[in-house]
Amino acid sequence: MRGLKLSGKSGACRIMLGESLSNLEKYSGPNPIIITDANVRAMHGAQFPKGSEVIEIGLGEPNKTLQTVMKIYERLLALGADRSCTVVAIGGGIVCDVAGFAATTYMRGMRFGFVPTTLLAQVDASVGGKNGVNFNGYKNIVGTFSQPEFVLCDFEMLKTLPLREMRNGFAEIIKQAAIGDAQLFSFLEENCTHSLNLRRTALEKVVYDSLTVKSSIVSRDELEKGERMKLNFGHTLGHAIEKAAGLPHGEAISIGMVAAARISVKRGTLKEKDAARLVSLLEKIGLPIKMQGERSAVAEAMTKDKKKGGNAMRFVLLSGIGSAQVGEITVDELIGVSDDMR
Ligand SMILES: NC(=O)c1ccc[n+]([C@@H]2O[C@H](COP(=O)([O-])OP(=O)(O)OC[C@H]3O[C@@H](n4cnc5c(N)ncnc54)[C@H](O)[C@@H]3O)[C@@H](O)[C@H]2O)c1
Ligand SMILES: [Zn+2]
Repeated sequence: MRGLKLSGKSGACRIMLGESLSNLEKYSGPNPIIITDANVRAMHGAQFPKGSEVIEIGLGEPNKTLQTVMKIYERLLALGADRSCTVVAIGGGIVCDVAGFAATTYMRGMRFGFVPTTLLAQVDASVGGKNGVNFNGYKNIVGTFSQPEFVLCDFEMLKTLPLREMRNGFAEIIKQAAIGDAQLFSFLEENCTHSLNLRRTALEKVVYDSLTVKSSIVSRDELEKGERMKLNFGHTLGHAIEKAAGLPHGEAISIGMVAAARISVKRGTLKEKDAARLVSLLEKIGLPIKMQGERSAVAEAMTKDKKKGGNAMRFVLLSGIGSAQVGEITVDELIGVSDDMR
């Protein structure tokens, strides 16, 4: 087992990599309240702590809502839960985001921890202290910054994960390598098929290294006043594609990263050959690199997502493999580049 520690203003978080779900109560205390979804419960429920109550939420992004949070509050009230109870999310990024939000708002905050069960949730969604839900068509617009007490990553649980979901996780791993770890990027270029096939040592290394990138950025800028924005590399266009084309998060940000690399080349911050390395790594993993979604729907989603004020949006550019910087872009420029990717 390997560990990492993330210290933020909103709390400290212990991350255990390669720990078993069967040891959960060592970290949560006895009988935590489990929040999960039907898929995870069906495949791994037998390993949940025996005396624990289980709250199940609906599947998929359409359930990442305040309505789902309200149902959780109702169950917590019915269970007589108070601040002495611990909530543990066992599931993908959706379960973690929703459960984290419910736990940090119910009674102004209960103790909570995560057992991320998708690769994407292990390398990204469960770590960093952002919890939240979608509202009125805006993604992650309502939420809190609050660190879970612990994140337990059990690699055995990934064995039931479909290949398409593994690939989605790799999109965030590649993102983290591209913005902050050139060595990890090279390792992925050489070993990605082993990791994708779950060769344990390779997978452990890529999860550890990409979490190191994320947790060190979050430790320096927990509330996203500056550097943390780099973690949004590929996400401006990615979120719009996710909404307009209904693609899974990882696939959408793969396309977003290709666009961001092209813009970085245009702006002169990234060499053409480094942009080509990124595109070929994404392709090797089996992630999409061509634009998807209706032009007008993507443009509308982006305009809506763009936080109020001006035409320009903050945008993450690569300044080399393993290094990023935050600049600005207009919706029109981004749509122009995405047209060239069709
Ligand atoms: N809070 C953050 O910092 C952060 C960062 C990145 C992404 N996110 C959010 O994460 C969400 C995406 O997360 P996701 O990709 O994990 O999606 P998800 O939670 O929908 O999980 C994907 C699918 O895999 C299933 N599943 C989960 N674990 C499984 C397992 N072990 N075996 C088989 N099937 C399993 C789920 O039931 C679901 O159908 C998005 O809403 C995104 O906004 C949040
Ligand atoms: Zn993401």
